[in-house]
Parts: sequence; structure tokens; C-alpha cells
Amino acid sequence: MARARVLLMVTGGIAAYKSCFVARLLQQSGYSVKVAMTEAATHFVGPVTMRALTGEAVATDLWGEGQSEALDHIEYARWADLVVVAPATANLLGKAAGGIADDIVTTLLLAFPGPVLMAPAMNDSMWRHPATQANRQLLAERGVAFVGPGSGWLACGTIDTGRMAEPEEIVAAVRELVADLPARDDEAARPAGPWAGRRVTVTAGPTLEPIDPVRGLINRSSGAMGYALAQAAVAAGAEVTLISGPVERDAPRGLARLVKVMTGRQMAEAVAVALTAGCDWLLMAAAVADFTPVNPAATKLKKDELGGAWHLELERNPDILKDVVPRHRGRDLTVVGFALETGDLVAKASVKRVEKAMDFVLANDPTEEGAGFGDQAHRVTLIGPDGVLWQSDSLPKPALAVQILDRLETARHGRGA
Ligand code: C5P
Repeated sequence: MARARVLLMVTGGIAAYKSCFVARLLQQSGYSVKVAMTEAATHFVGPVTMRALTGEAVATDLWGEGQSEALDHIEYARWADLVVVAPATANLLGKAAGGIADDIVTTLLLAFPGPVLMAPAMNDSMWRHPATQANRQLLAERGVAFVGPGSGWLACGTIDTGRMAEPEEIVAAVRELVADLPARDDEAARPAGPWAGRRVTVTAGPTLEPIDPVRGLINRSSGAMGYALAQAAVAAGAEVTLISGPVERDAPRGLARLVKVMTGRQMAEAVAVALTAGCDWLLMAAAVADFTPVNPAATKLKKDELGGAWHLELERNPDILKDVVPRHRGRDLTVVGFALETGDLVAKASVKRVEKAMDFVLANDPTEEGAGFGDQAHRVTLIGPDGVLWQSDSLPKPALAVQILDRLETARHGRGA
């Protein structure tokens, strides 16, 4: 699917400052974004801000002057697949309901035949006013979708209904509307992210193997690499499923699915489900525990009952790459794993690549200079069937992830896949 084109319309309410986040989130979710602002909106947020965020000229007036450059006044309406009005003020709802077109935003809105999402934001009394409610009702009957307003702190100092939906909710609502969009005729000709149309599954973080309800075995994985890969894949336009063990980390924006798991077995099941659903790339960045307690206790173990020393019986966890992936693997799946080794990196990782039937392995040695756990800079060596393909510099993980995806893409082509 080519990127959906979202026209974000900003009207003049204090919530306009949150529209900057909406613009950024929409972009991070892989949409093409352009912005139109009412004159009032430009008093709250500079068009320059929106322009910098989207890299596109911002439509601010009907007359081709100022920020909107020489825009044909309905060009943006022809361009868009979907319109989001955020914030939608009481004034905008009234004009839209009445079919008024007296500025760039209302003109574009009237000229736009496709789906419209509005995120109202206003003072609580204005929101409750029968006129506003009647306008909202009329617009909804005409097919306009609404998100919010929510209840919360309003700029006028009260806590009540009228607060614009949070940017994440708005983008989630956009995603639902985009899913229903008909395919465009010009799909093939449209630019899209280099990974558009690819289904990517990433595993990340550690697994936690319970000993009893409050204790468990866990390793030091922070999830930084896996989350960075998921984020980079989203940014490249892929449809990304992130399967994450327990980490203190915000999920990247724009994921198709986030599956949170605790144990290695749960992670194995989640991978099986993702592969069965269809997947082109499996990037296994998780540090799955090799062993798990045989019979985790149902109640908290008491140290007095355990004595001065006690033995915890462990059994092997499934090896996801060895035991699970081969059973669920589709023909076009490319499997990439990580090998964390100390010393003799390339030799050990190459053996692991073959043993675990990986197409590519990213070898890393956390004891090396410029490499390490967590949010530190890191370096990796990419190994394929013919040996070392690339050695990265030491880079912050988000930047490293972008390079890894580029190299993987090239390597996969090189393999003739
Ligand atoms: O732990 P090990 O060094 O064998 O991990 C190498 C690769 O195997 C990693 O990509 C990891 O995600 C994967 N792995 C797995 N199932 C396990 C342990 C590791 O798929 N039980």
C-alpha cells in the first residue's frame, strides 16, 4: 500500500499546540502529511513549525500569499486521502455544518469529498451549547468521524469536557479510517517507504521466567536494539509486529501490533502466531532465557522453609529459532538473529547462523570498545552465507538500526531473494 495522504487542518484553539505532535505522529506512522491552518491557528502555532515538521508548504490563506506560497486553493483537497481537523473549534464545527467557506481551512474542507475526522476542543460551556451539539450531530450524520473531546484540564482553568483527544488517540482514529480507504489508481506510481508492504516481526527485550509469583529469572537485555529496529522498520514504511519481553520502554509509534509477553514460551507462541499470520522478515533481537524453572511456585516461597541453600530445578526453554521458526516458516521469510559472543565473534556467530537456520546474523560483542548494553552506542557485524557482509561503526542504537535495515535489504537482494 502506498502511503495514505493526510491533510491536517488546524483551527484556532489553544489545543493547536498539540497538533504539532499530531503532525509528527502521523509522519512517524508512515503517512504523508500536509497542513492547512486558519489565521487564528497561526496565532497559537507558527506555520514555520508545521512546515519544519512536515517538510511541506503550509496552507494559511486563500490568496497564495504568506506561508501558503502559490497554492491553488483547493490543491490540498485534491491531494488528500483523509482530512483531520485538530483542534476543531466550535466556530469550525458551525461553519462546517453550515457549509461556509470563508478561509483556507473551510474552503478546503468543503472541497474535500473524502473521509473527515474531527477532534473538537473548546471550553466546556461552548461544547455543551445546543448549537455546538446540533452542529456535531449534523456533521456526524453526514459521515464525519469524531474523536473526543475528552474530559480534563481546560485552558480556562476548569476540569471538564472539551479537551482535545490526545495525539495518540487521534492517530489511532486516523489508522482506522485509513484501513477503510479504497485503493488509489495511482498506487504504483506513488513514492512509499523503502520497506512499504513488508511485514516485519521484531522480538525484543529479555524474558522473565517465574520462580514464584514475585520472583523470576531475567537477564540484562534492555530492549533498546529491538525497539530501535521496530522503530526504524515503521519509519521505513513496514507493517511491524513487535513482540516484547518486560522492559521499561515506550512502544514505538506506528506499530501494527505490540505483543507483550513475559516468558520464553509465551514469546515462542507469539512468534508462531506472527509467522502463521504472514511475515516477510523476522528480526530476533530478544534475549530469550535459555532455561526456565520447572515448577514455578503458586505462592511466594518462604526463605525459612527453603533453608540455608536450595536448588532450583530448571529446564530448557524452546529455542525459538531452532524449534519454532522452522515449523511456521513461510517460503519468503528472511530470518535475522543476533549472536552475542565474547571473543572469536565471527567464527562463533557463523556457526550459530547455520545451527539456527538464520539467513543473516548480527554478531556483537558487548565487551568491545564502542559496544554495550542498554542505550549505549553499539557496533555489530553482519554475517551471511558467504561470511562477513558489513561491520558497522559504533553508533547510537536508533541510528544503527536504520543502517542495519539498509544493509539487510541490500544483502537480501544480493542473495537473489
Ligand atoms: O541465546 P543465543 O545466543 O542462542 O541467541 C541467538 C539468537 O537466538 C538471538 O537472535 C535470539 O533472539 C535467538 N534465541 C531464540 N530462542 C532462544 C534463545 C535465543 O530464538 N531460546
